[in-house]
Amino acid sequence: MERLGGTRTMGRMYAWLMICDPPHRSLTELAADLGVSKTATSTVARRLESAGMVERVPAPGREHRYRVVHGGWEHVLRVQLAGVRLGVEALDFGLSVLPGDRAEQRARLRETRDLFAFTEYDGVLADPGTYSSDTVRLLPPGVLPEELSMEGFITQIDPPAHGKLRKLVSSAFTRKVVADLEPRIAALTQELLDAARERGRLELVADLAHPLPVIVIAELLGVPVGDRELFKRWADALFERDAQLSVTDTGLERQALVESSTRAWREMAAYLGGHAAERRRRPRADLLTRLVEAEVDGERLPDVQVVNFAMVLLLAGHITTTMLLGNTVLCLDALPGQQERARADRATVPAVIEESLRLLTPFAAVARSTTRESELGGVTIPADSYVMVWLAAANRDPRAFPGPETFDPGRDPNPHLAFGRGIHFCLGAPLARLEERVAPGILLDRINPIRTDPEDPVLFIPTPTMTGVRRLPLTWPPPPPAT
Ligand code: HEM
Repeated sequence: MERLGGTRTMGRMYAWLMICDPPHRSLTELAADLGVSKTATSTVARRLESAGMVERVPAPGREHRYRVVHGGWEHVLRVQLAGVRLGVEALDFGLSVLPGDRAEQRARLRETRDLFAFTEYDGVLADPGTYSSDTVRLLPPGVLPEELSMEGFITQIDPPAHGKLRKLVSSAFTRKVVADLEPRIAALTQELLDAARERGRLELVADLAHPLPVIVIAELLGVPVGDRELFKRWADALFERDAQLSVTDTGLERQALVESSTRAWREMAAYLGGHAAERRRRPRADLLTRLVEAEVDGERLPDVQVVNFAMVLLLAGHITTTMLLGNTVLCLDALPGQQERARADRATVPAVIEESLRLLTPFAAVARSTTRESELGGVTIPADSYVMVWLAAANRDPRAFPGPETFDPGRDPNPHLAFGRGIHFCLGAPLARLEERVAPGILLDRINPIRTDPEDPVLFIPTPTMTGVRRLPLTWPPPPPAT
């Protein structure tokens, strides 16, 4: 474990706490455990507490919790929630969206601390027959407007239909299509950084981590890059919220959330539908054309499926990659030794990315629904239950990852679940890995050292199932004088 050293800044503390947040009784104990001196620890604690940023709250059993009282700090709490030791609470969250009362089940689950072991999550993902991806079927009538079809929404489909759709879209979204993008990704990264350099400041999310994957996926699909503010608005309406939608809550807040999500969905479907129809009339050299033309066993995809799959690509193709780039930079900022190693030997960057995916898992959870009664970690789960698979918790299970709170790119193997597992394994993983190898490599070339701006705080995405930054201002030191 690298120690926190040198000047401590609030900016760096965010990252540090995110990375090293085992459930200790106090910040003092946490820092002592990490070998930070007592004086330094109390300075840290005083600064955080006097800034009104963290507060200890009572917790049952051996659990320890910090309530985050400052807007940008919600994320720290969530990382803890997603941590393996707080898995039971994480499950509570999952169960809280179940129709009906699951209080008794919750009480029983509380006694089973290790329910969320890596192997159990892995088992859930490997068994689509019992743990179906079709979670929408559990929503009570009226939550989703009837005209919204989930056809072709690949993450919601079970076998055998899933296999057929996946084969078809894989024939359009091949490894070669992805590999050919490398020079374009490098050129775009340079251009975006040049523009930020001219402006004299670098806010990583707005200036690079968001535009880069959006431009890449928009160009790949063949939709106008100039519309990217629209894509951001839709993605925010569908994903970024302070709380997950609860189907048991019928209040005005839920209604407003449903309405804004539905509006975004409708607009997006109409937009992509228009482009897909245009490609049927006038094919071009882009992924949308490949999708409308792709055939398996002589069959083509119906329009609604092309649109819904393109929607998954456009959303999944950038939100997660944006989060991953921000998270990786946070890790490099918090651990200067790792940053030095990555700068000195670029061959280590892929392992840094994999470890960032493990420790700060962008999609912290995926959902499944039980098709029959099942048993998980000794607990009976009734049929038709909604199960949250906390990938972030699995990725911190000490039995699968010794010293799980330590950022250690040397883990080999590193079998994290950040891209899922089994038949729904992320189709975009090769593209995400390519973008994440190229962009941080260029950042390391151009900015030395990469540091968060101590004057300008990091903001985290508040959504409980997403681990990522919303705003990440960096300092940009002047280049060394030419010799
Ligand atoms: C860091 C980046 C990414 C992360 C962490 C990530 C994570 C995931 C996860 C966890 C799943 C599994 C969902 C489940 O089992 O229910 C998934 C599926 C998927 N991802 Fe990604 N993803 C990333 C990037 C991308 C990109 C760049 C694309 C497309 C361009 C993409 C497209 C997809 C698609 C289409 C699926 C559905 C596959 C299926 O259901 O068969 N993802 N992703």
